[in-house]
Amino acid sequence: MCGIVGVLGNHEVAPLILEALKRLEYRGYDSAGIATLQEGHLDRRRAVGKLVNLSDRLVHDPLPGKAGIGHTRWATHGAPTEANAHPHRAGRVAVVHNGIIENFRDLRARLSDRPFESETDTETVARLCERHMADGLPPREAAAATVRELEGAFALAFLFEGEEDLLVAARRGSPLAIGHGEGEMFVGSDAIALAPMTHRITYLEEGDIAYVTRAGVEIFDAEGRRANREMRTISGQSVAVDKAGHRHFMLKEIYEQPTVLSDCLRHYSDGTAVTIREGELDFAQTDRLILVACGTAHYACLVAKYWFEQLAGLPCDVDIASEFRYREPPVSDRATALFVSQSGETADTLAALRYARDKAARIVSVVNVPESSIARDSDLALPILAGVEVGVASTKAFMNQLGALAHLAILAARQRGRIDSAREAELLGTLRSLPGLINQALALEPQIEAQTRRLAEAQSVLFLGRGAMFPMALEGALKLKEISYIHAEGYASGELKHGPIALVDKSVPVVVLAPRDGLFDKTVSNMQEVMAREGRVWLVTDAEGGRLAGDGVWHRLVMPTVDPVFAPMLYAVPAQLIAYHTALHKGTDVDQPRNLAKSVTVE
Ligand code: F6R
Repeated sequence: MCGIVGVLGNHEVAPLILEALKRLEYRGYDSAGIATLQEGHLDRRRAVGKLVNLSDRLVHDPLPGKAGIGHTRWATHGAPTEANAHPHRAGRVAVVHNGIIENFRDLRARLSDRPFESETDTETVARLCERHMADGLPPREAAAATVRELEGAFALAFLFEGEEDLLVAARRGSPLAIGHGEGEMFVGSDAIALAPMTHRITYLEEGDIAYVTRAGVEIFDAEGRRANREMRTISGQSVAVDKAGHRHFMLKEIYEQPTVLSDCLRHYSDGTAVTIREGELDFAQTDRLILVACGTAHYACLVAKYWFEQLAGLPCDVDIASEFRYREPPVSDRATALFVSQSGETADTLAALRYARDKAARIVSVVNVPESSIARDSDLALPILAGVEVGVASTKAFMNQLGALAHLAILAARQRGRIDSAREAELLGTLRSLPGLINQALALEPQIEAQTRRLAEAQSVLFLGRGAMFPMALEGALKLKEISYIHAEGYASGELKHGPIALVDKSVPVVVLAPRDGLFDKTVSNMQEVMAREGRVWLVTDAEGGRLAGDGVWHRLVMPTVDPVFAPMLYAVPAQLIAYHTALHKGTDVDQPRNLAKSVTVE
């Protein structure tokens, strides 16, 4: 998964493309490159590593031109080398690509009359287009013929030598936006990339091909018919991307949680009742809820499973999308299938949704990007309203996924006759108290910062939790490994004795997430088992829990008291701050950790 940009401008485009790529760097940062046309002549600059390396190169070796394309890469086919960096060029054609060309081996074999310069699937696209032009097709037709022969999921932008006023863009499986300026036109992987240049955006639909000139855009659908796609004006706020004075996007996003969660809560309830319309979702008729997602979103689903089962008595399966899609699980026609994704573009989650499409009674998604592919392919797309999340490690989106899912569970409980309106209002009241409690938890940051100094020395860290705190333990471990590169595992507290306790000794810190709830005493027993083996326990609990079980622990972090039902939402905050500060002590790249990318649009 990569970011792509194209500009037909009236001024030098390399600086504009660089700025847009900066906003797309969350999609990958293994290499970057730009190609432009100057007086019809095609030229390019590429550099391995982050965008700053390309930008340095351009200082010494500028790239003039008023038409160009650019790319930021997350390596799939071939190592992150300059030869594998986009744009790829063959003769008069330059191409940037996000996605995977599945039939690239066949194409490579067909086009093997001269050696390939790279190991990428993308170079075959440029070579195929070049071949069509050599066979006499003009650039537009050559690009269209090329796209027709490709299999897989992709977004592409083509630039042609000698064609100062043409970009061809194609979408199949990966999102693509066309930006409208004053006598200028743009192409980008998302609207955020184009925000400094324009807020007027047309999203391409699946299978569309777009011919862009400075005068406008002509779009044709997968059947080759001319298509009218709506132009929308994107609000400046929804595409604002800055750190607002914080050292990292991740920290900014952690601190945004009280605000964005309040927005989400207001969206889904009036304070006493859930406001999702009865007609939109009917959990009374549903015999099973299937929740599917990847990574952090999957952990949000695991938390929600406790809510759906305990509050609503609704049988609930939770699956990792990459497993669900190939396992061919039976899906009843009375099931509701719910897909959770921040980006709305995760390839595995999208494929799992398409698997369930014709089987489940209803396909619902919970997304942060309302225009995303997952949202469009759903019967009902519910927004989480977290705003743009830039940090690769998801924080505020996780919080708001939980916020939206909590409302769905309460709605399900009402529709299935498990709660009355007084209990509904009480649960919603607890949710409404969370933004304030999260603010109090954020005030614990200095304490967390001080303790993580020791965590940063560890080779391995365990996270424990029971009940709905178990998935929070998984999420805490994922955050820590993602950004600090320390090995971490989350376990259900009761499971430790069945094997993982063999890992425990004085070198292994064990973070125990244990609000004072019905399972607290059991968790404390498991914690004692750890301490009896010299394990160093960092207990995260509330005042009462700390009083009852704080003796002998390495550190006790006293959290505000919260109704245990929604405690995972509050305890997400220390888990995030522990990961963040440990990473700072380790000196890793918090916002762009190695090997990762924000949006995973490949399998
Ligand atoms: C972890 C993280 C990833 C994503 C996962 C799914 O911090 O961000 O695990 O949660 O890649 O992404 P979305 O939610 O965009 O489908």
